[in-house]
Amino acid sequence: MTRGTDVLFRPFQLKGLDLKNRIVMAPMTRNMTEGGTPVARNADYYRRRAAGGVGLILSEGTVIDRPTSRNLPNIPLFHGEAALAGWKSVIDAVHGAGGRMGPQIWHTGSTRAGWEPDLPVESPSGLVGPGDARGRAMSEEDIADTIAAYARAAADARRLGFDVAELHGAHGYLIDQFFWDGTNVRQDRWGGATIRERARFAVEVVKATRAAIGPDFPLILRLSQWKQQDYTARLARTPAEMEDWLGPLSEAGVDVFHCSQRKFWVAEFPEIDGEDGLNFAGWAKKITGKPTISVGSVGLDGEFFSAFRGEGAPASPLDKLIARMEREEFDLIAVGRALISDPDWVRHVQAGAGAKGFAAADLAELV
Ligand SMILES: Cc1cc2nc3c(=O)[nH]c(=O)nc-3n(C[C@H](O)[C@H](O)[C@H](O)COP(=O)(O)O)c2cc1C
Repeated sequence: MTRGTDVLFRPFQLKGLDLKNRIVMAPMTRNMTEGGTPVARNADYYRRRAAGGVGLILSEGTVIDRPTSRNLPNIPLFHGEAALAGWKSVIDAVHGAGGRMGPQIWHTGSTRAGWEPDLPVESPSGLVGPGDARGRAMSEEDIADTIAAYARAAADARRLGFDVAELHGAHGYLIDQFFWDGTNVRQDRWGGATIRERARFAVEVVKATRAAIGPDFPLILRLSQWKQQDYTARLARTPAEMEDWLGPLSEAGVDVFHCSQRKFWVAEFPEIDGEDGLNFAGWAKKITGKPTISVGSVGLDGEFFSAFRGEGAPASPLDKLIARMEREEFDLIAVGRALISDPDWVRHVQAGAGAKGFAAADLAELV
């Protein structure tokens, strides 16, 4: 029997952000804008999730003002008058339905997605994975301009009326390419043998962003150990390494760590606290003292990379999630695919009604 879900429906507050529940819509690329500008169908898609009761919506990744910041043509821009006007309609629609929302600010680095921008892609060392050359290594000037572009995007999020901004530092994209020694082999101050050294780029992005948005606007940073290039890659192999990674980011001005896992119930360091031990978000909260968001196969049987193989996933009970929320392992929980197929997933969960699960065919449209 599924346990009571009340623990998911407690309010949450951080700085000026007030959420009616603990459920976050995970950022999910849909590649369905008009050449980078969000249009009415995109605003309606997010409005439906707000009306469906999602506490905090994180947008699909939306890219900063750099020539090769996206790897597909209909990924939304978060710069330029037309795209920002489109985003203004999105946030107005979400607020109109009683929701809260932040953009996920992104640069895809050197990753491949089957489309080529006009110029060579950029990354820390001109690599997309260990020994896998692609594009060019960024110069000092590129790095400075990129840091400024992240900060400008976050400031624009605030100016447009968004409630929060998230920096995408996960999954093997640009910021993560600086973290990972498989893609950052630089010999200058942006590289180094330790995760603390390779975190410098992200720390500078966070500092510049914090300076641009002011002290009161909530800033989320999404991180992952795994990379799309290597699911088994790990940036922090011990809690001490995790402290080296997250400590400087926390000090630089991150308010919330969004800790991406493919299965939220998998323990981060089982050798320390067992197979049922703290997950990534649990350790991040313990180490930094900051609130955290967990994610990964909530309400579904089957993890999300199967979606890209065209596979759906049936609904599954929320007991494991509720148990972890009850012990306050993390503060918020992000839900991805379940919300692609069912905009009213939150209402259905609250009502104790059966959830729909995820159908891969729903990726072809904005349900
Ligand atoms: C279609 C799709 C697009 C995604 N795009 C992004 C993205 O733009 N940014 C990001 O951080 N994660 C992205 N993800 C990962 C999700 O945010 C989430 O972490 C993952 O789907 C696991 O959650 P789930 O099991 O509830 O689906 C995407 C996932 C899917 C299925």
